Amino acid sequence: MSQLAKFPEGFLWGGAVAANQLEGAYLEDGKGLSTADVSPNGIMSPPDFSMEPFNLYHEGIDFYHTYKEDIALFAEMGFKAFRLSIAWTRIYPNGDEQTPNEKGLAFYDRVIDELLKYDIEPVVTISHYEMPLELVKKYGGWKNRKLVAFYERYAKTLFERYHKKVTYWMTFNEINVSLHAPFTGSGLLFEDGERNEQAIYQSIHHLFLASALAVKAGHAINPNLQIGCMIASMITYPYTSKPEDMFKALQQDRHTLMFSDVQSRGYYPTYVKNYLEEQNITIQMEDGDDHILREGTVDYIGFSYYMSFVATTDPEHLKDQTGGNLLLGVKNPYLKATEWGWQIDPVGLRTVCNQLYDRYQKPLFIVENGMGAVDKLEDDGTINDDYRIDYLRAHIEQMKLAVGDGVDLIGYTSWGPIDLVSASTAELKKRYGYIYVDRDSEGKGSNKRYKKKSFDWYKNVIATNGEVLD
Ligand code: BG6
Repeated sequence: MSQLAKFPEGFLWGGAVAANQLEGAYLEDGKGLSTADVSPNGIMSPPDFSMEPFNLYHEGIDFYHTYKEDIALFAEMGFKAFRLSIAWTRIYPNGDEQTPNEKGLAFYDRVIDELLKYDIEPVVTISHYEMPLELVKKYGGWKNRKLVAFYERYAKTLFERYHKKVTYWMTFNEINVSLHAPFTGSGLLFEDGERNEQAIYQSIHHLFLASALAVKAGHAINPNLQIGCMIASMITYPYTSKPEDMFKALQQDRHTLMFSDVQSRGYYPTYVKNYLEEQNITIQMEDGDDHILREGTVDYIGFSYYMSFVATTDPEHLKDQTGGNLLLGVKNPYLKATEWGWQIDPVGLRTVCNQLYDRYQKPLFIVENGMGAVDKLEDDGTINDDYRIDYLRAHIEQMKLAVGDGVDLIGYTSWGPIDLVSASTAELKKRYGYIYVDRDSEGKGSNKRYKKKSFDWYKNVIATNGEVLD
């Protein structure tokens, strides 16, 4: 490996979580209902407003009450950073109030202070896969421009409260989810079950405005803040070297990159404008929107990476589908997959890092990566998750090579350092953690924490700044 393939000093090693997937306490201290609270089957399934089916998100792993114990374990692993999200509904329970809920703010004061006690840098996602349900019911979700101001108020409240303690922020988790799961991404409901592309792209425009206004407001409050975007990276390979496959791969990539293009460059690329025109989609824009987008470009590119995708123009290959993050994918014959069909491709991570850095020339932050697997708690209390260690090691090796390629990589927060409720399927059977939580998908179990084999492994990775990966 080249001499240059070395993680920089101060590299932000850690883990990432989302409020709705681990906090539980879904009605405590004045919290309002969120879109996650009515999604008992996860983000890829339709919501259920009856509140009747069991919903694991309501309980999470009870982090709301166990955060001290859990953060102590992260500190024991030597975390330099911890990415958490703030539940919008703890701060503005309905989303349209004039004043925030003090008890919600106080909870995150306590969590942030606990992290700082151990010199762990809090990295905050302002909105991760949830929004106040009232904004869906009363305003129809993000297709309504009023939400831009509600979000801006919420973001400002957070910056004002925490800016002295939190430097790294992200405006929306995996903002491109709005294309694939419009209820989770944008609070959109389609009565006839048909996707309404007009509403989807109008909502996306409002998300872009909200993100840009938040970046501007954050910088005005504290110019030192680093505010990033966050996309679910979905790099696409052509299935064959057929030129048509290559072009399809490029087009498929643009469905993802259009988000970081707008958020990083501050304007809609021509390929998006032309696509919208061809599809007869007209986004309602107001005078000054262009200006808002240009003024609110992000400081760094945050992204998740779980797998790569394949594009093909051959209907035969299209039949061979596998699971995936937010999307089903075509099977890549060269790759193995996890139990959930997500194709394991460490080299793809190096490629994504190079692709994004070449495109934007801004620091990159890998804020999610990991392997969802079924773990077994042995009678002696051990969990031998060698498969997870193999997965992470292979990805970290490729990250290191990307640094050697010249990529400015500032951190790595692997997904779910402690087992939490999965987003796509709302289950606890699928685990990502270094810390095992004794709770199952029905919410049964002691909720006790156990260290997996990967716990000590990751501790050593951090201690050696990624030099020792054995
Ligand atoms: C990302 C999300 O898409 O993938 C997380 O930002 C999510 O919220 C993670 O949990 C893993 O997906 P899943 O469905 O396995 O939980």
